[in-house]
Amino acid sequence: MFPITRPRRLRQNPQLRRMVQETTLTLNDLIYPLFVVPGEAIAKEVKSMPGVYQLSVDKAVDQAKECFDLGIPSIILFGIPEEKNSEATGAWHDHGIVQKAATAIKKAIPDLVVIADTCLCEYTAHGHCGYLKDEDITGTVLNDPTLELLKKTALSQARAGVDIIAPSGMMDGFVSVIREGLDEAGFQDIPILSYAAKYASAYYGPFRDAAESAPQFGDRRTYQMDPSNAREALKEVALDIAEGADMLMVKPALSYMDIIWRVKEMTNLPVAAYNVSGEYSMVKAAALNGWIDEKKVTLETLTSFKRAGADLILTYHAKDAARWLA
Ligand code: PBG
Ligand code: ZN
Repeated sequence: MFPITRPRRLRQNPQLRRMVQETTLTLNDLIYPLFVVPGEAIAKEVKSMPGVYQLSVDKAVDQAKECFDLGIPSIILFGIPEEKNSEATGAWHDHGIVQKAATAIKKAIPDLVVIADTCLCEYTAHGHCGYLKDEDITGTVLNDPTLELLKKTALSQARAGVDIIAPSGMMDGFVSVIREGLDEAGFQDIPILSYAAKYASAYYGPFRDAAESAPQFGDRRTYQMDPSNAREALKEVALDIAEGADMLMVKPALSYMDIIWRVKEMTNLPVAAYNVSGEYSMVKAAALNGWIDEKKVTLETLTSFKRAGADLILTYHAKDAARWLA
C-alpha cells in the first residue's frame, strides 16, 4: 500500500526538523539543587552522585555564581546542620545553614532566584520529615505539630532572603499554614512551590547520602504517596491549589511522566518536575561505564519532561545541560 501521507517529508533535513519541533528545552526551565554544610572551603563529592558536592557556604556561593553565569535562573537549597535533634532546631534557626547560605548567595548574586526546600528531615535526629514524640519509636509523624515547625522554618528562610518557599514534607495542610504565616509576617509576595505529588520512592536513595537524611527507622509511607496511585495525586494537587500554592511539583519525574501530564491537564499553575537523585545516578553510572551517551540521554530525558508538561525541571544535570544548550 502506498502511504497517503508521508511524515518523512518533514524530517528530510535539520532546518525542516527545526521548524516542526514541538518542544524546546531552554535554560529558563532549569533549577539546580545545592547541598550546604557547615565549615569553610569544603567541597566533598557525594559518592553516589558524581559531580554533586556537599558545599560550605563560600563554595555554595561560587557554584551559585557559576549557575548564574551559565544562564540558569534558579537554585534550590538543602542544608546539613551542625547538629540534629528532635525539634529540628537547625531548620528554623535564624543562623541555620540554609539561612546563612541564602543570605550569602543573595548578597553575591541578587538576581539569582533562591528557592529553599522547607522540610525537617535533614534536621531531625531520626530523619523523618516531621515532629514525633521522643519516646515514639514507631516513627508516626505528628501532622499538626509539624505544621508549626514548618511555618517557623519558612518564616526564617524568608527573613534570610529566600525568594521562593518549597515545602516538601507532604504534611496535610502545609501550604495553607505556611501561606498564612508568610502573609502575617509581611511576606505576601513570596511564592510557594509545593511538592504537591511526592511519592515514597526508592529513587531518593542517593539524595539521602547527600543530605544525610535517611530515616533511622521506618519509612516515609505514612506521608509520601504510594507509587501505585495517580488519582490521589490529583487530590493532593487540588488541595494545594485551594490552600494557595503558586506552583506545583511532581516528584520523582522519570517514572511519573503520566502524573506530570495529568497535573498539567488539570491546572493552569506552573508545573515543576523533580528529576531526582536516583535518576541522575543511573545516568551517571551508565555514562561512566561508557554504556550510554550522557549528553544525548540527558537532553532527551529533560526534553521529555517538558513534552510531558513540565514548565520547570529541578535537576542535578542543570549545569551540564546549560553548557550543552549554550
Ligand atoms: C525530603 C526530600 C527528599 C528529596 C528532596 N527533599 C527525599 C526524601 O528523602 O524523602 C529527594 C530529592 C532527590 O532524590 O533528588 N523532604
Ligand atoms: Zn523531608
